Amino acid sequence: MTSLLILNGPNLNLLGTRQPEIYGHVTLKDIEKLCQDKAIASNIQIQFEQSNHKGALIDWIQAAKSKQDGIILNAGAYTHTSIALFDALTAVEVPAIELHVSNVFSREAFRHHSYISNIAIGVICGFGAAGYTLAMDAMLGHLNQS
Ligand code: DQA
Repeated sequence: MTSLLILNGPNLNLLGTRQPEIYGHVTLKDIEKLCQDKAIASNIQIQFEQSNHKGALIDWIQAAKSKQDGIILNAGAYTHTSIALFDALTAVEVPAIELHVSNVFSREAFRHHSYISNIAIGVICGFGAAGYTLAMDAMLGHLNQS
């Protein structure tokens, strides 16, 4: 059965209360439920995780090599700073989609650069919580073609 890792980085545990004018009112728990419902409907498995710690994110990415067919990664601010996350994604050779709730390109200039984009098969940003299920569809489409 197809299995996806959906990984969330720092401060995404605060969705729902964090700058709702940018990130909306949907909580990470709500998003996890949306993803679980979609996984059941699509007959796939997901592992949905969040951590504020870079090492924990890297551990999940490394474990995906033997466990998952694709990675959907909202790395939060680490997107813009972390060569270590880029290296981990490069090492495991599991296809990854970069995801953001907000449209990072309509925001501060420091959010316009991403280390993840270099290795991602694609980027989804600006569609709020819906981006998570859009990313699942995009990954399933990619896996079915490859
Ligand atoms: C984010 C965008 C990042 O720039 C920011 O640091 C986040 C959230 C998003 O989902 O829109 O923490 O990844």
